Amino acid sequence: MRMTAMEMTGVAKLLLLLLVLLVLVVAGGCVQAADGEQMSGGHRRSRRRRAADVMVPITILSSAVDKGAVCMDGTPPAYHLDPGSGAGNRSWVVNLEGGGWCNNARTCRFRTGSRHGSSDHMERRIPFTGVMSAAPADNPDFHSWNRVKIRYCDSGSFAGDAFSQESGLQFRGQRIWGATIQHLLDVGMASAEQVLLTGCSAGGLAAILHCDQLRALLPAAATLKCLSDGGLFLDAVDVAGGRSLRSYYGGVVGMQAVAPNLPKACTDHLDATSCFFPQNIINSVKTPIFLLNAAYDVWQIEQSLAPNAADPAGVWRACKFNRSSCNASQMQFLQGFRDQMVAAVRAFSESRSNGVFINSCFAHCQSELTATWNGAPPGGSPALQNKGIAKSVGDWYFGRAEVKAIDCPYPCDNTCHHII
Ligand SMILES: *[C@@H]1O[C@H](CO)[C@@H](O)[C@H](O)[C@H]1NC(C)=O
Ligand SMILES: *[C@@H]1O[C@H](CO)[C@@H](O)[C@H](O)[C@H]1NC(C)=O
Ligand SMILES: *[C@@H]1O[C@H](CO)[C@@H](O)[C@H](O)[C@H]1NC(C)=O
Repeated sequence: MRMTAMEMTGVAKLLLLLLVLLVLVVAGGCVQAADGEQMSGGHRRSRRRRAADVMVPITILSSAVDKGAVCMDGTPPAYHLDPGSGAGNRSWVVNLEGGGWCNNARTCRFRTGSRHGSSDHMERRIPFTGVMSAAPADNPDFHSWNRVKIRYCDSGSFAGDAFSQESGLQFRGQRIWGATIQHLLDVGMASAEQVLLTGCSAGGLAAILHCDQLRALLPAAATLKCLSDGGLFLDAVDVAGGRSLRSYYGGVVGMQAVAPNLPKACTDHLDATSCFFPQNIINSVKTPIFLLNAAYDVWQIEQSLAPNAADPAGVWRACKFNRSSCNASQMQFLQGFRDQMVAAVRAFSESRSNGVFINSCFAHCQSELTATWNGAPPGGSPALQNKGIAKSVGDWYFGRAEVKAIDCPYPCDNTCHHII
């Protein structure tokens, strides 16, 4: 060592000094880059946030009020945005929040005292998990994208446009949709390259209803696909032989003047209430859709198949809250419901661009919980054909594989997260 150094010429010493300086400068630059990434939100932020349980702040969109885009009580609409980073900065997940509906003045007025009818009652920060997560391990395909959740305060799956003189309530979901999407385009989505419109429950229905509408608002070169989670509400016969959900939807659609905002391809030949049911519109939506739904959707079992009004004697009470309490004829009824769901997606699933994941679990909404979206086995994400939900949706979105997964009837699936 010493000998070598002593033998160095003056030029060699100068070169060595320059090399040392160069190394120091490059190292300094890396430290700076890492700091910058942490501030603007990259991998580092994801890891830090995951540990801290990611909370994303609300943005109240006051400018939308001028456009008549308001919650049921007249307060402004709102959204939560977690900006994308790195490779995801031109990609967007747009999530329409769910949370049921209301079908008359009394039930709607009740909701104005909650986050589902007024932005005054919305949480100022909400966690982003599952398909909304910023953690690469929890959300491998979409974690770096811009992720936005549009809050739900219209009670009509973002599709109504009416004002009730009698109750003083606003039903402006379609305007909330339009004003919020326009705002997102203005803050960067206009240069989006990839967009995933998603939502669960009433938001899953909204994602189907608005899928082609969003297509028309995005640049032609952008990829748009829509994921509906727990949104496949069926026009099914209930345990009393009636159609509880159809009559409920009739109230929503009529009161909120939803008809003009439903797909024309459906309202051309069917009544508006029928066109609020996905089974009557999914075959004519042009934009690719992925239907993720439990075949034994517990919301539908409790609220549309065996609601109290259809079960006055309460013979379904135990079964609808606990699948182990169902007798053979009740289970047969539920199997019939599953068969209707499978039949409802048959033609839809023939399109190459569509995706289907109908699993035989007693569940409702599976994309926004970390465990059901991408939890590791055992006890992780429900799987069909050995593929969990995040992987299935990602394979479909990016064209890595076709996903047309329909489970065998209950109880054959041992990967379920049963709710009841
Ligand atoms: C996205 O990232 C690229 C390079 O990583 C950068 O040039 C561009 O300005 C970014 N765009 C936005 C909207 O942040
Ligand atoms: C569900 O029903 C089964 C059988 O009737 C019973 O053993 C079990 O405790 C019930 N579970 C709950 C959570 O009530
Ligand atoms: C099963 O439940 C139904 C209610 O759906 C009831 O009418 C029937 O009597 C029950 N059957 C048996 C064998 O308990």
